[in-house]
Order: sequence, then structure tokens, then C-alpha cells
Amino acid sequence: MKGIILAGGSGTRLSPSTDSMNKHLLPVYDKPMIYYPLSVLMLAGIRDIMIISTPEDTPRFQKLLGDGSELGISLKYREQAEPKGILEALTISEDFIGKDKVTLILADNIFYGQGFTTILRDAIKKHRYATIFGYRVKDPRRFGVVEFNDHQKAISLEEKPEEPKSDFAVTGLYIYDHRAVKIAKKLTPSNRGELEITDLNREYMKWNHLDVELLGRGFAWMDAGTQEALFETAEFVKTTQQRQGFKIACLEEIAYYLGYITKEVLFEKGKSMEKNDYGQYLMEIAQRKHTEQYWDSVAHHPMMGLVENE
Ligand code: G1P
Repeated sequence: MKGIILAGGSGTRLSPSTDSMNKHLLPVYDKPMIYYPLSVLMLAGIRDIMIISTPEDTPRFQKLLGDGSELGISLKYREQAEPKGILEALTISEDFIGKDKVTLILADNIFYGQGFTTILRDAIKKHRYATIFGYRVKDPRRFGVVEFNDHQKAISLEEKPEEPKSDFAVTGLYIYDHRAVKIAKKLTPSNRGELEITDLNREYMKWNHLDVELLGRGFAWMDAGTQEALFETAEFVKTTQQRQGFKIACLEEIAYYLGYITKEVLFEKGKSMEKNDYGQYLMEIAQRKHTEQYWDSVAHHPMMGLVENE
């Protein structure tokens, strides 16, 4: 399974904050936005990941995350010359995907909830052709909207409809088989001049090859693409983190619990940032006793053991 993070776009909805800075590098409380989607792919167990951004911003992501080796993963980068839509992320990555399956995530999407690792890994295990994740929202008109029958089978898909047929938004997380690239190449741009991911999903739906996973109540999905949403998301992260003392989307912590990096590497990374809260958190995690670590990992991601770290 390959992973792709699309971190391109013009970011006009966040102007002037994004006039000289890519939206996905803006902080969501205490870490850059891209940490959140990257954490999702890591929790899913995906280690081979491509980050796609604008020619101007790609080097900035490279500077931030490097080749991924510090996290025990592989990160590659590719440019999207113009913001021509989400589907282009797949066509740009054709050789990277090859004959593999691919999980695509939009870099402004933030997912948080107990059991998410299990949901993700189960979805990957039972994946057939295409899987999307639906989430009930108050204003579905802002999103792709999926309507489904009693068997949770998608029966209609519309991109930002005036009159939504359901309250279920399609989140920016998609799993496809390698045929997605071929299908994407045949599709034409929408009225807003973009190659829409909804059109690709509709193709899979036509052949009855689209599966919908629902993220239930108690789960948090946010799309930090507007000023309001960005602020609300940051508030959510701050409140949740401060209550329990766990960080959301702390990449080094995830890498450690997954057994990708050692306690020593984790500690050293923390030490390099020891003057701030993020660094202190890493050092604290590295110094925890086995039982404390176990409960941390259960609280964070129930699928994980600590075998490789002890
Ligand atoms: C995109 C997709 C939309 C999806 C949303 C999720 O919209 O086109 O179907 O619901 O992401 O974040 P955009 O944010 O590019 O307008």
C-alpha cells in the first residue's frame, strides 16, 4: 500500500495568511497542519509516502520532513504545477503507485477518535476497489456528499450540491486500487476547472465497486480549509491535548510506538527541541516506564503493542 498526501492548492480561502506560505504548513495549535494527515497514514501502517505540493512549496515540506528516515518511513516529493484538482495527485504519482493500492489523504483533513487505527486497518484489510469515509455534518453543501441505502451502499455522489441528498460528507481520505490512475486520466475537469475526486468515486460506484465506511458520532473529522475551521480545529486540538496530556498527531511518538524508531532516537529528537513543549513531550514519552507506555499506546491506538521497543 502506497500513501499520497496532497498539500497543493492556492489556499485563497486563507489569504492573506497563505499569500507567502502554503496552507498545510500553517500551525494547527502546536504543529504544522501536514503532521495530522501524515499521522493518519502512519497509523494505517503505510510507510511509503509521496507528498505533492506546488513547485514553490515542495522544498519547504522537504525541509520540514526530509526523507522520512527520522520517522522510520520513506517520504518522496513531487510537484503539482498548477492547482488542477485532487485527481491530479493520482496521475502525477502513476509510477509511484505502480500496481499497488493507494491511500490518498488531503493535507487539510484532520481525523481524531478512539479506535481510528482499527477502523483504518480494517478498511485496508477488507478493501476491494475503492473505499471512502463518510461523516455526518451540519452543512453538507461544503463537501462531496454521499447518499447510501440501508446496506450502506452508495447510491449517489455529488460535489458541493446546492441541495444535498444526505447529511454525509465524503472526507478527504480515499483508498483505491491501482486502476484509479487509469480511470482518472479519462475524466475531464468540472465547471470549477478541477479534476474532481467525486467523479472518480462515481465511476467506481457505477460498477458497484465503491465501499463506504462511516465514521460515527464521537469521532472528530475536521477540514481546516477556512479561517473559522482552522481556528476551531486548533482549539479542539488544544483542549483535547491539555485534558489528557497526550498529543494528537505527534509523528515521533507514533513512530516510536510502531517500533520504527528507538527510545534513544525519540529522546534525542526531544532534546533538540527541549525548550518547547513538543520537545519536552518527546523526552517524557521516551522516559516512561513500560506500563505507562502500554497504557499510552492503548489510549492512542489500540492495535499497537510495544514489543519492538522493549
Ligand atoms: C474536497 C473534495 C470534497 C471533500 C473535501 C473534504 O473539497 O472535493 O469532495 O468532501 O475535499 O475535505 P475541497 O476541500 O477541495 O473543496
